[in-house]
Amino acid sequence: MRVVVTGAGGLLGKRIVQAFKDYEVVGVYHRSQPETSPFLVLDLSSLNLRPIEELSPDVIIHAAALTDVDKCEREPDLARLLNVDVTREIVKVSKRTNAFLVYISTDYVFDGTRGNYREEDETNPVNVYGLTKLEGEKLVRDVDSLVVRTSTPYGSNPASGKDNFALWLLKKLKAGERVNALVDQVTSPTLNTNFSLMLREAVDRRIKGVLHLAGRSQVSRYEFSLALARTFGLNETLINPAHFNEMKWFARRPMNSSLNVSKAMSLEHKPMSLQEALSELRREIEANDIVWK
Ligand SMILES: NC(=O)c1ccc[n+]([C@@H]2O[C@H](COP(=O)([O-])OP(=O)(O)OC[C@H]3O[C@@H](n4cnc5c(N)ncnc54)[C@H](OP(=O)(O)O)[C@@H]3O)[C@@H](O)[C@H]2O)c1
Repeated sequence: MRVVVTGAGGLLGKRIVQAFKDYEVVGVYHRSQPETSPFLVLDLSSLNLRPIEELSPDVIIHAAALTDVDKCEREPDLARLLNVDVTREIVKVSKRTNAFLVYISTDYVFDGTRGNYREEDETNPVNVYGLTKLEGEKLVRDVDSLVVRTSTPYGSNPASGKDNFALWLLKKLKAGERVNALVDQVTSPTLNTNFSLMLREAVDRRIKGVLHLAGRSQVSRYEFSLALARTFGLNETLINPAHFNEMKWFARRPMNSSLNVSKAMSLEHKPMSLQEALSELRREIEANDIVWK
């Protein structure tokens, strides 16, 4: 079975590629090279996806996107090109090759007024990123597909040329620097290795429709940060509680976009609680000697 993963050098893509390593996996990237081969270098914004079609994939996992929420707001045309137009071309390739399509989406399709969102709950994005990702979701319904929504991914690996929130925080605390963390923005932080194993199982079972694959705990950034500090024996008094309305973001954010993961609890690889996931993160970091050297 041939699996093509777009965004293969990204925070999720890198781990997705690893989770499928016993299949024939081809990672598609533009600037951030995945750690496994073979791969295909392709600027998806060219909208020429023939090289993907020529691979005759059985499964396409479309994880590439413009994920910078403020950049999407500042450059809506670019956001539309990468998140909507590229997805439309991916759908065409899936149709032509008869491939099962998995579209990685986001908790930001919700407005965040309530939280604990189930798969069938009403969507109502509050920013360009969420809007364009939701348009992508609607496009993939045309083919044999699964939409997977996740929330605040983190992991032991830097990806796409940057640290994720967990690595950034650990480095700051280790350097003795103060950080602000929001007490009133709630998400479902998701360890990327836990995500990838759940995704692999969902693909193997050919689950269709919409599925929330995220961490089981719904927490604020502040609670997430404190739990990180405690797990790694770092000074939690360096973390200042901050508030949503103090932030000078360009794009609006949903306040509570946490995801209900009851459906995913029926998988063999279940959504981890925050404490389980942070213990696993620590194990991964120590095994690879990251951050501490
Ligand atoms: N990060 C989050 O907070 C979050 C939350 C929920 C859901 N998601 C979704 O999860 C998926 C994966 O995101 P991530 O967190 O892994 O983010 P990421 O690290 O930013 O990965 C996104 C990838 O998209 C690729 N990409 C962007 N423009 C491209 C282009 N023109 N041609 C080819 N590839 C291009 C980038 O590859 P290059 O660097 O090689 O250009 C990048 O590696 C996305 O669909 C995102 O919407 C993310």
